[in-house]
Amino acid sequence: MKAIRIYEFGEPEVMKIVEVERPVPAPDEILIKVYAASVNPADYIIRKGGNEGLKPLLKLPMGLGIDAAGIVEELGSEVTEFKKGDRVYGVPNYLDGSYTEYLAAKSNQFAHMPHTLSFNEAAALPACARMAWSGMVEKARVKPGQLVLVHGAAGGIGSLALQFAKAFGANVIGTASAHNADFLKQLGADEVIDYNTQKFEDIVSDLDVVFNATPTTTVDEELRLRSVKVLKKGGIFVCTHGVWPNEEFKELLAGKNATVLMAGVDINHYHCLTEVARLIDAGKVKPVISKVYPWEQAAKAHRDSETKHVRGKIVLEIQNED
Ligand SMILES: NC(=O)c1ccc[n+]([C@@H]2O[C@H](COP(=O)([O-])OP(=O)(O)OC[C@H]3O[C@@H](n4cnc5c(N)ncnc54)[C@H](OP(=O)(O)O)[C@@H]3O)[C@@H](O)[C@H]2O)c1
Repeated sequence: MKAIRIYEFGEPEVMKIVEVERPVPAPDEILIKVYAASVNPADYIIRKGGNEGLKPLLKLPMGLGIDAAGIVEELGSEVTEFKKGDRVYGVPNYLDGSYTEYLAAKSNQFAHMPHTLSFNEAAALPACARMAWSGMVEKARVKPGQLVLVHGAAGGIGSLALQFAKAFGANVIGTASAHNADFLKQLGADEVIDYNTQKFEDIVSDLDVVFNATPTTTVDEELRLRSVKVLKKGGIFVCTHGVWPNEEFKELLAGKNATVLMAGVDINHYHCLTEVARLIDAGKVKPVISKVYPWEQAAKAHRDSETKHVRGKIVLEIQNED
């Protein structure tokens, strides 16, 4: 079978499609024929050698990709929730990679994909949906009538966090560049703030939840301070990447009796992706795809993703569905 491997860290061109051994599923795993995978920030971060947390875990040569959609081809002896031929979506075993024709993964990391979606559409969801679901639904426990602000609402995670909050009855404000305002309104945003020209703290206050899905960690420290300031007493700030609180941040949190929660921790993938599939098949949430590339053009796809201005998701098509 073919898979993308990197033999060195670096520019997008280090990704090569090569011939590798097809994996054999362990008793608790399924073998999936992969039709599509999406591009996530983790992919280019790993391709470049990783951040501080990841660096010690990366061993070359290695695969890339953290989510996929495809067909169950083989079942491990202990797997009962799937049968051969099922259309599934989910996340591979940690750091195994999903830019590949076949992958073997723990069966509880996959779920039946939404009936109404193609493989390309379903592949746009798992990694971002688990972060958005975990942060907005499981951690923040968003409720009808609450006021929610989503930073980075046009991105992979943000576009789903916004839709989940709306599906649960909240009023949602999203931040994005001006050209994405109409797009966010179509997704259901009640209000859109152009973060390039407007300060959200001049416009909103007394929020129940602020969900930070910006990919720009350079603005993080300042953004999180400003975010806690617009929370109401007892409000919740949800992060999609690590927060190392300094004294000023801790004092602000204490003054507001506010909580910081990290999305993506303790996820039951099967449950989360099954719930997301229900919302999608009910027409309440939709995946957003800005571009599908054949996986031979993974380097182009990574360059797009690294701009940090992709609307929704970029998908790599690995095998054609027809
Ligand atoms: N994807 C995952 O599975 C995953 C898992 C764990 C952690 N994370 C982390 O979560 C963050 C978001 O991930 P993602 O996959 O959603 O990223 P993404 O899809 O690459 O985010 C792109 C979006 O970010 C918006 N954006 C860029 N700078 C912004 C700013 N300063 N303020 C507000 N919006 C801004 C852009 O909107 P405009 O073009 O409108 O400016 C664009 O639509 C990243 O830091 C990532 O490392 C992601």
